[in-house]
Amino acid sequence: ARLVVLVSGSGTNLQALLDACDDPVYGAKVVAVGSDRFDVEGLARAERAGIPTFVKEVSQHDSRDAWDLALRRAVAGFEPDLVVLAGFMKLVSEEFLQTFEHRVVNTHPALSPAFPGTSGPADALAYGVKVTGCTLFVVDPGVDTGQIIDQRAVEVLDDDTVETLHERIKVAERAMLVDSVGRMVREGWAVEGRRVRIG
Ligand code: GRF
Repeated sequence: ARLVVLVSGSGTNLQALLDACDDPVYGAKVVAVGSDRFDVEGLARAERAGIPTFVKEVSQHDSRDAWDLALRRAVAGFEPDLVVLAGFMKLVSEEFLQTFEHRVVNTHPALSPAFPGTSGPADALAYGVKVTGCTLFVVDPGVDTGQIIDQRAVEVLDDDTVETLHERIKVAERAMLVDSVGRMVREGWAVEGRRVRIG
């Protein structure tokens, strides 16, 4: 299966996928990595692995719609079976999601539907929950509201900071992403109402 991965940052989730794809039994390969930013470590990871990259910055386009169309065209050009948003910090449009229907997945560093948005670990800490985690979901037009594919629980420790908690969540997040994407590409998946069935 062909994966296109979109990143905005350090790309440790991307790296976990790249490492998994080294084994042919895994059943997938990353055919391209895209970003909304130049000079991010995620792109450097792709380049080191010899994988084509592309950057579509919002500021390079006349409008958000024009940016989204350019991104969509770039992704479509690589004919992905699955588009993985791995720390991609922009929302994509409904047209983007229609183009790759039920084939865009994202990870979120909280247990959905708790703490949607970009500050899941900080919000969990501020709320005082004892357990948080991460969620892999099929992207829909909402913010972190899509159908849940997988979740992993992570304990919140008394002395956690946002950074230590997020790092512990990211360990679980990478394992979840590799496990679930592997199962999806090997066994197939279907979205049925709120549920995602693999196999
Ligand atoms: C992940 O926790 C992701 O869920 C969040 O940002 C982090 C990205 O990490 N939105 P990386 O770039 O994969 O290292």
